[in-house]
This record gives sequence, structure tokens and C-alpha cells, in this order.
Amino acid sequence: MIRLKPRLKTAADMVRDGSRVADIGTDHAYLPAALILSGKIPSAVAADLRKGPLENALETVRSNHIEDRVQLRLSDGLKCVSPDDADDIVIAGMGGILISEILTAAEWVKNEKYKLILQPQSHDEDVRRYLFGNGFEITDEEVCFEDGKVYICLGAVYTGSVASHSEAEIMFGSILSRNDEAAEAFKNKKLKRITARLSALNAHGGDEGEKERLEAIIKEVKKWQE
Ligand SMILES: C[S@@+](CC[C@H](N)C(=O)[O-])C[C@H]1O[C@@H](n2cnc3c(N)ncnc32)[C@H](O)[C@@H]1O
Repeated sequence: MIRLKPRLKTAADMVRDGSRVADIGTDHAYLPAALILSGKIPSAVAADLRKGPLENALETVRSNHIEDRVQLRLSDGLKCVSPDDADDIVIAGMGGILISEILTAAEWVKNEKYKLILQPQSHDEDVRRYLFGNGFEITDEEVCFEDGKVYICLGAVYTGSVASHSEAEIMFGSILSRNDEAAEAFKNKKLKRITARLSALNAHGGDEGEKERLEAIIKEVKKWQE
């Protein structure tokens, strides 16, 4: 049995029962191994860009005797994963920009049979921007604490319909309307970053359009916090 810490457990909880999982950027393969050992999923492809992390994954797979259920694969993003390999695709522990690039490079993920489970370490707004702009609906959005830090995880499925969203919705997603402790911590962390950026623009006479965009985001978040 592998006990996942809150960040990966949040992602694992979003995986659908019985799905075959592709875990991109797997490193130790803890997430697919935990899901297989718990009986939630039958099999997985555990992929990573580098050999070192794949050796870590091999160690986890061997020590848990699940060699017959995990395929290890050297792959840049989804390049060496085929559309028939998985039902649920997990990309966790990478920056939001890289996650969006990996998805952009794999047009085949735009299909309603897949569920994407994405855990950006930073720039989650870039992940939402990709999802909203490419016909995905965000079905789950959870925030959790691990080792004193706050993390977000998103689940999404392709619907093909592209709806417009405010900058605050792209920045905060459904967390905008939530006020539990983790949601507040997440909002405050991002608000701090946005406020600092706005102050820098004000101090150095920056782009007026960008200032207005940031002011509008701050206003919308504060409105939800009242
Ligand atoms: C911080 S680890 C995350 C490990 C695990 N997914 C987690 O969330 O704990 C990031 C992993 O992503 C891998 N990686 C980075 N860029 C990648 C890419 N383009 N394709 C596949 N894996 C990548 C790295 O080699 C590294 O093992």
C-alpha cells in the first residue's frame, strides 16, 4: 500500500474508478502505483521525460510487484503515449505553462472519452485559459494543504464548447466563490502576487491596459470575499 500525501491524493481522488491512467511526469510513479494497489484502477502508463525519474518509477513498480500493470515510458509529454493507452490523463507537479504546452501538442486529448487531471504547481491560470479556450469543461477543482503550502488540482473533460470567462474566473476558477480555509489561502496567495504586480506597474508607469486588467481581477475577488 502507498499512502499518498494530500497533493497527489487530491489528484488520485479525481481519477475515475476502473480507468486506465497515463501519468505524465510520473517521477516515482507514486500516484499510479497507489491507485493500482488500492484496486481503483487496473493499469497505468507512467511516463517521464528523463531516465532518472523513470528509474525511480521502476523502483516503486518493482518493490510493489506491479510490473505487469505499469508500463514505463520515456516520453516528452504525451508524445509517446497513444490515444488508446489511457482513459484518464494525469499531469501533476509541473508548471501551468508546461502543462498547457503538453496538452496543446496532443490534439487527440480533445475527445470526451478522456478525463484530464491537472495539478499545476504555478500559473494555474494558464491551465484554465487552455481548458476554457479549447472546449474543455472543468468538472472538479480542489485546493489542499501539504507541508504548509497550498495546492490546486483540476479535473476536466472535453465538451467542444468554448465559453467566455472573466479574467478573475480564469485566474481563480470555481475557487473564487469558495471560502473554506484552503480556498481562502489559495485566493490570498494569488491576490498578493497580483497586488505586487499592480504596485510595480503603478510605481514604474506600466501598461495601462494591464493595470486595468489587474484592478478588475482584484475587484471581482474582493466582491466574493465580502
Ligand atoms: C516535480 S516532478 C512531479 C512528479 C509527480 N508527478 C508529482 O506530482 O509528485 C516533475 C516531473 O516531470 C517530469 N517532466 C518535466 N517535463 C516533462 C515533459 N515535458 N514530459 C514528461 N515529463 C516531464 C520531470 O522529469 C519530473 O520527473
